[in-house]
Amino acid sequence: MKSPKKNLAIVLAAGRGTRMKSSLPKVLHPLAGRPMLAYPVRAALELGVAEVVVVVNPETAGEVEAALRLGFPDEPLTFRLQDEPKGTGHAVRAGLSGVLPGSLERVLILSGDTPLLEAGHLEPLLRCEASLAFLTFEIESPRGYGRIFRDSAGRPRKIVEERDLKSDAERSIREVNAGVYWARLDALGPALERLTPENDQGEYYLTDIVGDIAQRGNVTTCSTEATFLRGVNNRAELTLVEELIFARVRERWGERGVTIVGRPLIDDCVELGLDARIEDGVRLRGATKVGSGARIDVGSVIEDSRIGPSAEIKPYSVIFQSEVGERASIGPFAHLRPDSLIEAEAHIGNFVETKKTRVRRGAKANHLAYLGDGDIGERANLGAGVIFCNYDGYTKQRTVIGEGAFIGSDSQLIAPVEVGKGAYVATGTTVTGNVPEGALVIGRARAVIKEGYASELRERLKKKKKS
Ligand code: UD1
Ligand code: CA
Repeated sequence: MKSPKKNLAIVLAAGRGTRMKSSLPKVLHPLAGRPMLAYPVRAALELGVAEVVVVVNPETAGEVEAALRLGFPDEPLTFRLQDEPKGTGHAVRAGLSGVLPGSLERVLILSGDTPLLEAGHLEPLLRCEASLAFLTFEIESPRGYGRIFRDSAGRPRKIVEERDLKSDAERSIREVNAGVYWARLDALGPALERLTPENDQGEYYLTDIVGDIAQRGNVTTCSTEATFLRGVNNRAELTLVEELIFARVRERWGERGVTIVGRPLIDDCVELGLDARIEDGVRLRGATKVGSGARIDVGSVIEDSRIGPSAEIKPYSVIFQSEVGERASIGPFAHLRPDSLIEAEAHIGNFVETKKTRVRRGAKANHLAYLGDGDIGERANLGAGVIFCNYDGYTKQRTVIGEGAFIGSDSQLIAPVEVGKGAYVATGTTVTGNVPEGALVIGRARAVIKEGYASELRERLKKKKKS
């Protein structure tokens, strides 16, 4: 774009989206972790426009604005209300309200519901010099789209909406309007003023600017691939579009030195390091970052978490809002709940659950444990079946395990409790008070051995069963 500061983008998002049948505004439905509307907004911003104006309706304006500001905190975004749903032309007028004629050169118009369109797809359109240029594509079944009418010289003459088509011949036109326009403001402004709602829906159709400007200036089209323009009008289309976005994300990381095996589902905002390996059935969500050389094995779900370099997340582990250090090993079947911090080289094995727990460097809990509200010292070893009893039904309490301590299998630690550095908790102990550094604590019923008594016992039990 030659003079980006003189251009503006308008993203139309004031439609009611009733076909979504949802209490969530259509344009906020998530697609690979971002609201649908974030995609066209980002495309416009990447093209370097001075400002992006989002046209919203009064019912959903607050929610839509809040969600978008969160995703684009420092970008030049403006929200303008279209008070009534009187059509796409009316919506663009609302978007331009307050814009002084002459203050801008050109306006890019996008729809909030075509999230597959990226900045790169729009570049050829933005190179057009005509008063108005718009995107078209060819499609097997054009139903629902505005059809492109051309004159004998092939110049675009007008767009006619599906409901206003008059014959089967007209309906069979397969070149359709994508709903993406690049217009000079001095042509667009007056054309919008001249729009009338004389059509089957009684709306101000933006598409009518094509016929209007064609009579006065030059209008050109740019053709593009139909897949990029797939719109979202219902949940089935949402699913299809999201699949395409996931495929793009996989391809993007594949080109950037990440090994992707099968079809893991990776949110658009996730970041992956060089030589990371993401296996089939993995779901990576939100603000997740995976370090270089880390391996996320089959079926793991990771949300808003950081996985350190060369860490290994074994199959079917679940990690939420947590951090895993360099070369740490998690799983299989581990559950890291929010605020778990597993430091470098620590091991969390199968059926181990942590929550608000720090597992310091090199510490291990390899099997079947609940470690909530704890701080586990460096190189401490927790046996199978260790439980931090952190909750008395009213409040949560902390368990602190010192560096190098050993907690034998099937021990319960009743919080608040501290086990000192290097201390030893014998198997099967219920720890009810602090254990000093270097101490041994043992608390278990003494086992009694009766030689030869097994067969005697069996005889007795057999008789009892018969009687
Ligand atoms: C529109 C085009 C059609 C084109 C198709 C491509 C018109 C009249 N028709 O039809 O030629 O083939 O897109 O997808 O423009 N919106 C508002 N306010 C309104 C009405 C709509 O902001 O009063 C917004 C919607 O939120 C949506 C966009 O404009 O983001 C398009 O509206 P929609 O009703 O989906 O138009 P289509 O029927 O798809
Ligand atoms: Ca649409």
